[in-house]
Amino acid sequence: MRVLAFEALRAVDERDAYANLVLPPLLRKAREQEGFDARDAALATELVYGTLRRQGTYDAIVAACVDRPLREVDPPVLDVLALGAHQLLGTRIPTHAAVSASVELARVVLGDGRAKFVNAVLRRVAQRDLEGWLAEVAPPYDEDPEDHLAVVHAHPRWIVSALWDALGGGRAGIEDLLEADNERPEVTLVARPGRATRAELLDVLGEGAGEPGRWSPYAVRLAEGGEPGALDAVREGRAGVQDEGSQLVAMALADAPLDGPDARWLDGCAGPGGKAALLGALAARRGAALLAAEKQPHRARLVQRALAGNPGPYEVVTADGTRPPWRPGSFDRVLVDVPCSGLGALRRRPEARWRRRPEDLEGFAPLQRSLLAEALKSARVGGVVGYATCSPHLAETRAVVDDVLKGHGGAQEVTAEWIDARPLMPGVPALGDGPDVQLWPHLHGTDAMYLALLRRTA
Ligand SMILES: C[S@@+](CC[C@H](N)C(=O)[O-])C[C@H]1O[C@@H](n2cnc3c(N)ncnc32)[C@H](O)[C@@H]1O
Repeated sequence: MRVLAFEALRAVDERDAYANLVLPPLLRKAREQEGFDARDAALATELVYGTLRRQGTYDAIVAACVDRPLREVDPPVLDVLALGAHQLLGTRIPTHAAVSASVELARVVLGDGRAKFVNAVLRRVAQRDLEGWLAEVAPPYDEDPEDHLAVVHAHPRWIVSALWDALGGGRAGIEDLLEADNERPEVTLVARPGRATRAELLDVLGEGAGEPGRWSPYAVRLAEGGEPGALDAVREGRAGVQDEGSQLVAMALADAPLDGPDARWLDGCAGPGGKAALLGALAARRGAALLAAEKQPHRARLVQRALAGNPGPYEVVTADGTRPPWRPGSFDRVLVDVPCSGLGALRRRPEARWRRRPEDLEGFAPLQRSLLAEALKSARVGGVVGYATCSPHLAETRAVVDDVLKGHGGAQEVTAEWIDARPLMPGVPALGDGPDVQLWPHLHGTDAMYLALLRRTA
């Protein structure tokens, strides 16, 4: 079990792999060769995800227990130490078991000499509980609030700062948000309209295995341990796994008031196709057709798969949304769910927060502006455009929309006005001052999706 967790951590560290991709094949192999059962798999997953999520905090604690700078300690040794620190400070595994299992792991994967070092360091780590260590290694809140929160809630400081800027408010809100990022998100399904119903999914799941989503009439929240792949509707593509925030975004775009024709919809950044599949089903109900465009051919194939069986007309094209092959002004509704830092989905990717750099945002900025500008040009006058990101970072949300409304990003020849998105998410609380909408994990239980709705005016 711990060897498997170590292998996963090494792959994430060494090859920049993603834990959610590395883990399933390792677990499959362990099931086949070592007879791993569901409980073993759950524990191994918890060890890997928990260690990765709180890596920055564990590194700070380990640094306080090692008599040389951490950069002088080999990365595989640091991985064993972080894994050990997580067992000691972040799980209910008894201290002696956590230390002895970590030393045994070190002996197997690092050799006897380094196992002694691991033993000495973890014995020091074991002298305090997590609270005691945080009081020791985090600066007091009053001295440096952002650094304090960064260490206590295991986020890089620049991300604490960016999230706090976007969220506003005082200490309680940002602490709740950072803690929500450290929780495993529940799995939410979407019953694609016209193909499956929520009642059908709930019925198949049976009592206690699922409950209705909070706001989307298509959402079903799976109980802990629920396996989406076990449902026929999911295997047949009539339902899918989709965060309720993504469902709300697609529904808001579909429901935005529109004068004149409502026959042609575009999803300009469709891969892998979650929102496209819901939009396609909603478009079908209204007799509209969906064009789903995606730049990466392999992701376009995923969109094709997501839309297969859609009850209305649709087409999937591999196309660059910054140089679109379609005629300008030809769509009534357009969504661009642009590539972004993903800071709104940190719950799902435990390693992402430590891998992202503030400079990444500069890389996304021109693309985001250009995709929104082209989306506006693609809409007819009077048509609706939705700009969505899975990041609440103000540089990826409001700043992009404001810039494009001023004509940047290639939008000189189009004008647009805001549509208030809040009434299009009826019943959803805490949507802010508008006209755009920012969802939050700690307030809505969704990813931190952002949506701006615009109407092309000329
Ligand atoms: C945030 S994802 C979209 C997620 C999708 N809406 C969903 O719900 O499944 C952004 C997508 O835009 C694609 N993309 C990046 N640059 C693009 C471009 N210039 N034109 C079209 N698509 C692009 C990426 O490959 C990625 O699949």
